[in-house]
Amino acid sequence: MIVARGIGKRYGSVTALDGVDLDVHQGSVHGLLGHNGAGKTTLVRILTAQTRPSAGRATVSGFDVVDQPERLRRKIGLTGQFASVDEQLSGRDNLILIARLLGAGRRQARARADELLESFGLVDAAGRLARTFSGGMRRRLDLAASLVGRPAVVFLDEPTTGLDPAARLNVWQIVRDLVRDGATVLLTSQYLDEIDRLSESLTVLSDGRILAAGSPMELKHQVGRRTAVVRFEAVADLKVAGPVLSGSGLRPALDEARTSVTVPVETSRDIATIVRALDDAGLELSELQVAEPTLDEVYLSLMSAAAQSAGSERAEAVK
Ligand SMILES: Nc1ncnc2c1ncn2[C@@H]1O[C@H](COP(=O)(O)OP(=O)(O)O)[C@@H](O)[C@H]1O
Ligand SMILES: [Mg+2]
Repeated sequence: MIVARGIGKRYGSVTALDGVDLDVHQGSVHGLLGHNGAGKTTLVRILTAQTRPSAGRATVSGFDVVDQPERLRRKIGLTGQFASVDEQLSGRDNLILIARLLGAGRRQARARADELLESFGLVDAAGRLARTFSGGMRRRLDLAASLVGRPAVVFLDEPTTGLDPAARLNVWQIVRDLVRDGATVLLTSQYLDEIDRLSESLTVLSDGRILAAGSPMELKHQVGRRTAVVRFEAVADLKVAGPVLSGSGLRPALDEARTSVTVPVETSRDIATIVRALDDAGLELSELQVAEPTLDEVYLSLMSAAAQSAGSERAEAVK
């Protein structure tokens, strides 16, 4: 649904994007993760034909972002970081106005507005001016506004930034509903947990370049810091377990307060080794858990690798 190849964007001497590729399949959520200034909004603006790329090509729903901007725009819904709801109109009138601009008749426009107000929990506030809305209500109205035309592809640029936890949950549910109904969503965020929960695939951007891409699970496996946590009934057992595990070539870290030991595991064979070694020593495990690395760990490790290579590039340049 979204295909981009080698997208670059320069603003004078600033390189906002450099060689960005993207593939987003129909009916999925793709997360675009990156720090402030990474280039997320620039990429969204290019894919929604609001600005032209300096390099590369992209299509959305089969339409070229440079050659077919009008037809492309008719396929998409866009909620920006700074969205375009009219503050001086009521929530309902905003939605009706947009529906009319998209060519709906008067009655049809009212019906669509009411339908959206209902599904976004805005029925009670529908008659109030948009400028009196709370942050969370406003964000839901922005989302509703972007969906009036039932777009096939929806771009959500940091839809939850600055929202409280309850309002974030609301937005997450809206995203899930959209995808269930067949839409394709490109979601940008600075929040890892959000991308982890919502997206099937993600791209990590930093300073305009792709650091990594794949499913959250694939990225976690790349970093590969899985750990096994074994808990015992008694501290005495824990003290026996430490040397037993070290003796099997593992690197156990004991936690006496929790009567547990944490062991980094590379492959599932390591897990078998843990279980066998402890069993051979006659120890009873009361609990065994294998934890995947979090997306936070993935992100931090990618960022530190990027910082190191930037450092060595600079060192090369100085030589
Ligand atoms: N219109 C513009 N003119 C000049 N520089 C810009 C413009 N828009 C974005 N930039 C620069 O491009 C980079 C990427 O910005 P942006 O895409 O907004 O990042 P993000 O959305 O990830 O925070 C930043 O360095 C930003 O300052
Ligand atoms: Mg942005």
